[in-house]
Amino acid sequence: MSEFDIIVYGATGFTGRLVAEYLNAAYGADGDLTWAMAGRSLTKLEEVRAEIGIPASVPLVTASADDPAALRAMAARTKVVLTTVGPYQLYGSELVAACAATGTAYVDLCGEPAWMRAMIDAHHEEAKATGARIVFSCGFDSIPFDLGVWTLQEAAKARFGHAAPRVKGRVKAMKGGFSGGTAASLKATLAAGARDAGVIRTMLDPFALTPGFSGPAQPKGMLPEYDSTVEAWVTPFVMATINTKNVHRTNALTGHAYGADFVYDEMMIAPGLGDIGKAAAEAMAKLNPFAGDKGPKPGEGPSREERENGFYELLFVGEMADGTTIRATVTGDRDPGYGSTSKMIAETAICLVRDVRGAGGVWTPGALMAAPLRTRLEEKAGLSFRVE
Ligand SMILES: NC(=O)c1ccc[n+]([C@@H]2O[C@H](COP(=O)([O-])OP(=O)(O)OC[C@H]3O[C@@H](n4cnc5c(N)ncnc54)[C@H](OP(=O)(O)O)[C@@H]3O)[C@@H](O)[C@H]2O)c1
Repeated sequence: MSEFDIIVYGATGFTGRLVAEYLNAAYGADGDLTWAMAGRSLTKLEEVRAEIGIPASVPLVTASADDPAALRAMAARTKVVLTTVGPYQLYGSELVAACAATGTAYVDLCGEPAWMRAMIDAHHEEAKATGARIVFSCGFDSIPFDLGVWTLQEAAKARFGHAAPRVKGRVKAMKGGFSGGTAASLKATLAAGARDAGVIRTMLDPFALTPGFSGPAQPKGMLPEYDSTVEAWVTPFVMATINTKNVHRTNALTGHAYGADFVYDEMMIAPGLGDIGKAAAEAMAKLNPFAGDKGPKPGEGPSREERENGFYELLFVGEMADGTTIRATVTGDRDPGYGSTSKMIAETAICLVRDVRGAGGVWTPGALMAAPLRTRLEEKAGLSFRVE
């Protein structure tokens, strides 16, 4: 019997606070869902809990990311650890080890593929043995993409009898900013790549998260191009490197439910037609929102107004061998990275507590809990999934 359903680790950070606020607003402090806020400093946890209006009845748990014994003790008290302590490659390894060892479920917001691969190699078998369900990337990267492809493929199987061998993920529109923690994670990945060429190889390999399996060549998605399927210019999408790897891992973990020959890429649709669309695609490809040192510091991120005015709309197009197509759309009602992400990761943790059992291992959201999670996200978290 665990003391808590969920411990929110990193509750003093920008995204962790949003998760705690969401749990409090949606499930209350003293309701059926039992949860606690955790971090490395009790004083800061107390300050944040008061500042964001969370009742003092919500317990506080302290553990530093570099203290294996404290992390293990924390993991042993809960059914799920929900962690927003990042960059994960700097602060996350001991926590994954603690959850794998104690059989505790784990969800995070990781978009750092080289570290994820290292964790898969180190803990997948152990997690299978202890029953720990470890699930990375439970935010904007990669849930709407992972479940968007799954939704499309379920519809393709129902309509055509089999999955689409080629799927295009296209970001139609999105509005939102980024936080200091996200910028720090990207910088940590770039620094790791400068030290170790293996990190760059992992980033460039679409099958980096499917050990022992490499599928057919995948589109590189590094340059703007005209996409006749969507009749628009498309441009590279910054999150594609992580999402595409997770989608391929979902395929591998489900016994290649999308086929062993599955081809998938993600690009952003540029606004405008003809030469205007081309110019927009080229200009967007040159933008680097993470450039310079003027961005948000750890703990900072988009304002409440920016989060509430944000949104996203994603299109997935499946192409069958005979050229027939099928389309699905995914939308979210807040800014992707924080307003929507904080609801998504909270509901994913609740899905692990209430809706899904499943074996231990290092999972993707799509491979472990696709149908119940999609239902939960539509009912609670402002997402919609529609097939045309
Ligand atoms: N996948 C997605 O869609 C998505 C969306 C949003 C965020 N993210 C990721 O989520 C992570 C967090 O982002 P953020 O902007 O919320 O970061 P943040 O504001 O910097 O928060 C980081 C948290 O980590 C804690 N921390 C740092 N070092 C620690 C240590 N040694 N021991 C224990 N706790 C420690 C901080 O505690 P203190 O307050 O004590 O410093 C803080 O609570 C990043 O990796 C980011 O890339 C991903």
